[in-house]
Amino acid sequence: MSEGFSLGVFTTIVRPEEKAILAAAEARGITVQRIDDGETTFGLDRPPGLPDVVLNRSVSHTRSLYATRFYAHYGVPTVNTAEVTELAGDKILTSLRLRERGIPTPRTIVALSPEAAMRAIEEIGYPAVLKPAVGSWGRLMAKVDNREAAEQILEHKAALTSPVHSVIYVQEYVPKPDRDLRVFVVGSAAVAAMYRRSSDWRTNAARGATTEAAEISKELGELSLRAAEAVGGGVLAVDLMESPNGLVVHEVNPTPEFKALSAATGADIAGRIVDYAVDVGRR
Ligand SMILES: Nc1ncnc2c1ncn2[C@@H]1O[C@H](COP(=O)(O)OP(=O)(O)O)[C@@H](O)[C@H]1O
Ligand SMILES: [Mg+2]
Repeated sequence: MSEGFSLGVFTTIVRPEEKAILAAAEARGITVQRIDDGETTFGLDRPPGLPDVVLNRSVSHTRSLYATRFYAHYGVPTVNTAEVTELAGDKILTSLRLRERGIPTPRTIVALSPEAAMRAIEEIGYPAVLKPAVGSWGRLMAKVDNREAAEQILEHKAALTSPVHSVIYVQEYVPKPDRDLRVFVVGSAAVAAMYRRSSDWRTNAARGATTEAAEISKELGELSLRAAEAVGGGVLAVDLMESPNGLVVHEVNPTPEFKALSAATGADIAGRIVDYAVDVGRR
């Protein structure tokens, strides 16, 4: 390791993923600066003592957005970049980009008010899936099977004051098998993949889905890399579903968890992330 090189790790909490990242850095003899996203402040001028690169592991999209902007302003590269964080952290912006790049993705209509959302849902047809534009772990998503259910969900949305809930992302329900796929991309490599299986239609590992290593076929690898590149590339987890018409990408996660994926595949994802971040820091 070059003299004085240091890796910043920007965190909210230290989950098993961050522990693994810190351990991988230590194993490589890399000096780590841990930066707590709730403690640190950002002035307009570059402060002294910044690391050579910042690996963003914050669980907050808002904190991630501003922090990566500030580091860019200070001339410190981040993984992922501010642009990737902004785009991939927002399902609406991601859908637009995937479509622009010709990557298969479920049919989606966005409404900017709960009133307009009813029209979007009727246009998509039932069942329809409603998602917050920003969020993870399948939280606050709803599958609506008929107009009555849709009206009830939208009444609840209308009662919520947060602006987040006034924008409604409506997607066709993809009749996938009882699983979806997650492919972890680091730079130009698809490093590991798994099936996430659940009796719940939301197959997030955080919701208790069982996980199983998946082979990265040529098609799966290429599609995942295209999706990652579409949002700007970096460290990204691409979520895909097996639709009746083939694979579709429904999400590209910019600060992904990977505990379940490491366990299912044995892949050293933390090590790959650290190597990539160091590479970015030395460019
Ligand atoms: N359009 C859809 N049709 C069927 N299942 C879906 C659809 N969108 C998402 N899901 C299921 O819900 C899970 C969570 O959705 P996702 O868009 O990845 O949001 P999150 O950011 O919360 O993970 C997916 O992994 C998948 O199992
Ligand atoms: Mg997801």
